[in-house]
Amino acid sequence: MLNGQTAVITGASRGIGKAIALSMAQNGANVAILYERNMEAAEAVRQQAVGFGVEAKTYSCNVADYQESKNVCETIIADFGAVNILVNNAGVVKDNLVLRMSEEDFNTVVDVNLKGAFNFIKHLSRSLMRSPAGRIINISSVSGMMGNPGQANYAAAKAGMIGLTKTVARELAGRKVTCNAIAPGFIETDMTASLPKEISTYIDTAVPLKRMGTAAEIAHVAVFLASALSSYITGEVIQVDGGLNM
Ligand code: NAI
Repeated sequence: MLNGQTAVITGASRGIGKAIALSMAQNGANVAILYERNMEAAEAVRQQAVGFGVEAKTYSCNVADYQESKNVCETIIADFGAVNILVNNAGVVKDNLVLRMSEEDFNTVVDVNLKGAFNFIKHLSRSLMRSPAGRIINISSVSGMMGNPGQANYAAAKAGMIGLTKTVARELAGRKVTCNAIAPGFIETDMTASLPKEISTYIDTAVPLKRMGTAAEIAHVAVFLASALSSYITGEVIQVDGGLNM
């Protein structure tokens, strides 16, 4: 479905990003696997991706750093020749009630989730515009749509990603680049592993499908949005949340 395309996925050494990178590779895309610190985990993902017969390389980058993001984007374009698909998946949480939230934790969460997405869109959009059907997929969150106590920083950043998505969709539509967001609900990954036990009671009552989602269930939607099957969808937010926010 994605044969001959090159996809850049941030935060791809684990969790949702890993699942997206592997699903894209399985569907024929060459993949640039970005990671922050865990080189070994990224290398394991690369080896799995290569097993699908595609080209795969790993790159270390703090997505919140503008210059570092610029440098890595230039290296990826030099290595692969072109980028067709960008998935802004890298994210972090630093939860606290707004009364107790530090300025540093607010800034970090906005810088990684929101500015990180801006950095990669900014530095890859020329290459995406040269592609016959460029694709940008931003991983937002239901928190950005509903708000969530304890997540003022994260909900603001994820809501910001939705504004970013819609603006970029309008700006790049003339160049046949689509830009969409996925808003996952509760997905089983390291990020949600530390949630308190009572969360399962909440999920039973608040999530109509009465379970957490899997990283693969997000990856399937990302592959759809990266493929020609989604050619008339742009500026959209697809909720993948078991019905949590409807
Ligand atoms: P995770 O914590 O397993 O993965 C996040 C990835 O982002 C990690 O690979 C981490 O190294 C990377 N990352 C963090 N800070 C970075 C930085 N400064 N530079 C580069 N990479 C950095 O979490 P998960 O669950 O896989 O999350 C993936 C995305 O999905 C995130 O954007 C998250 O906000 C979003 N999401 C997750 C939900 C869930 O329930 N797990 C729900 C809604 C959204």
